[in-house]
Amino acid sequence: MRGDRRQTPRRWSGDWRALKSLLPYFWEFPLRVGLAVVFLVLAKVASVLIPVAMKHIVDSLDSTQAQLVAVPLAMVLFYGLLRFGTIVFGEIRDTIFGRVTERAMRRIGLKVFRHLHNLDLEFHLSRRTGGLARDIERGTNGIAFLMRFMLFNIVPTLLEIGLVVTILAFNFSLSYPLIVLVAIVLYVGFSVVVTEWRTQYVRRMNEMDNRSNTRAVDSLLNFETVKYFANEAYEAREYDDNLADWERARRQNRLSLAALNVGQALVVSGAMTLIMVLAATQVAAAEITLGDLVMINAYMMQLFIPLNFLGFVYREIKRALADIEHLFGLLGTRPQVFDAADAPELQVSSGHVQFQQVSFGYTPDRQILHQVSFDIPPGQKVAVVGPSGAGKSTIARLLFRFYDVDQGSISVDGQSLDSVTQHSLRRTIGVVPQDTVLFNNTIAYNIGYGRPEATDDEIREAARLAHLDGFIEQLPDGYDTQVGERGLKVSGGEKQRIAIARMLLKRPRILIFDEATSSLDSHAESAILKALDEVALNHTTLVIAHRLATVVDADRIMVLRDGRIVESGSHRQLLGQQGEYQRLWRLQQRDSALPAP
Ligand SMILES: Nc1ncnc2c1ncn2[C@@H]1O[C@H](COP(=O)(O)OP(=O)(O)OP(=O)(O)O)[C@@H](O)[C@H]1O
Ligand SMILES: [Mg+2]
Repeated sequence: MRGDRRQTPRRWSGDWRALKSLLPYFWEFPLRVGLAVVFLVLAKVASVLIPVAMKHIVDSLDSTQAQLVAVPLAMVLFYGLLRFGTIVFGEIRDTIFGRVTERAMRRIGLKVFRHLHNLDLEFHLSRRTGGLARDIERGTNGIAFLMRFMLFNIVPTLLEIGLVVTILAFNFSLSYPLIVLVAIVLYVGFSVVVTEWRTQYVRRMNEMDNRSNTRAVDSLLNFETVKYFANEAYEAREYDDNLADWERARRQNRLSLAALNVGQALVVSGAMTLIMVLAATQVAAAEITLGDLVMINAYMMQLFIPLNFLGFVYREIKRALADIEHLFGLLGTRPQVFDAADAPELQVSSGHVQFQQVSFGYTPDRQILHQVSFDIPPGQKVAVVGPSGAGKSTIARLLFRFYDVDQGSISVDGQSLDSVTQHSLRRTIGVVPQDTVLFNNTIAYNIGYGRPEATDDEIREAARLAHLDGFIEQLPDGYDTQVGERGLKVSGGEKQRIAIARMLLKRPRILIFDEATSSLDSHAESAILKALDEVALNHTTLVIAHRLATVVDADRIMVLRDGRIVESGSHRQLLGQQGEYQRLWRLQQRDSALPAP
């Protein structure tokens, strides 16, 4: 059934699957990854040696240990070098690895973008642009974060813990590594449990973030409408309601974060205090030197700071995984309209369009078209007229295969639409849609979009055919005039003519005009219709119109009502039938006193 066909976004059964899917991106630059690991190890070795240098400096300064106190200049210099080394090696590591993450972000960003363009129209009509943009942004950032931290924080922190525990175990009493290990287990256990509990708040915060953002974008897109109804205060209130939810979610998130941080601090300070008590007692009993105490203290600091970081990293990784899961969920969404495996290209010979017993509904519970059958013989012009909501534009959308039919079939030159590639079909068909939306760019760009490789002369020629040249000449910036967001800075009729021009530039075999001249005055309309008639000569054409006068010359006219073809024939035949068409014609003629042909 339609509507049930879309798979729900795939949930990643395990976080590991998300992690694993990132691995290929590491291998794009194996040399870089290898070098980064080398510098990672260098930085770690330097940092583990720092407390050792510390110990030797303190011991040689300690008068109880040595007879002769001298400044251990070489050791101090070594210490300085080590400190510098940890930072520099770390920087080099990050610089080298940066390229890998950036490339991965680029690859994934492109993949998502392509995927979004592959999804069907219905998905895009139902989505929320603001929320989608946020999801993508958060997802790609999550990927970058995960790649960096997987390699540079988790593995090295574990390495460091291992090194320090070994050093402590070999040099001092076993109590030290024992306390450290117990503290780490407590710390990690506590962090994991609390972080899991917090996830709900983080999710909720993101959700609220999406919702308020979507709301703001939608409100601003409807700027004009808001003004028409003087509803600024209402909009602000709605937005603020959303923001209030977001604020609440943030607060819960912050409070739970504070609880986590305090608990972690408690474990760390408890362990450090215990170790210091132990070390101080041993120094007092002359079992270890003062330098040893300093070294132990330094190791504790060195260990627990990255451990603290591990808590943060765990939290962030959970968040990144949630964001990535969202993004992959998006990538897992299957389009409802898709190419059959090994679908061939559409082979257009004459451009014969056939609808056979086509039934269709956007949702399973409401059927729009009922067994619609008609033919557009090669090179002929067929018009569809009828009341609003009858399903006229739906016929055009089906021919363009924005949706698949529920029953029956549509074919071009004998090839069913769902058996050929969408790309080859859409290349063949030119559409001037009922509501044209333009790119926020120049007029030349918008016309040239019909065929990106078109020359300036070709763009000018298309503009001339669409009777745009007079208008463009008046503009101070001419073809370089910006049309504004969605094309709102040009008039409705100008927008329609731009849409016609860019369709002409595409040079398709089959033409669809959906109320293509509805916003034009009669004078401009008849001029354009004449131009279009010349272009449409020998092209298979489907015209949808309200104003019957614009379609009287069609080879055949169909009257559509409630998704059924109720009358069909030439203008003359239909006038003779004394039916719906004749009634409509009379009505429109009386209104505009149009001459009958
Ligand atoms: N994406 C959609 N999801 C659900 N219903 C839709 C969708 N698009 C259109 N419809 C419904 O399908 C019916 C037919 O729409 P269609 O756009 O084909 O009408 P139309 O004949 O072109 O009307 P008009 O002359 O006003 O343009 C309408 O009742 C409309 O509400
Ligand atoms: Mg319509």
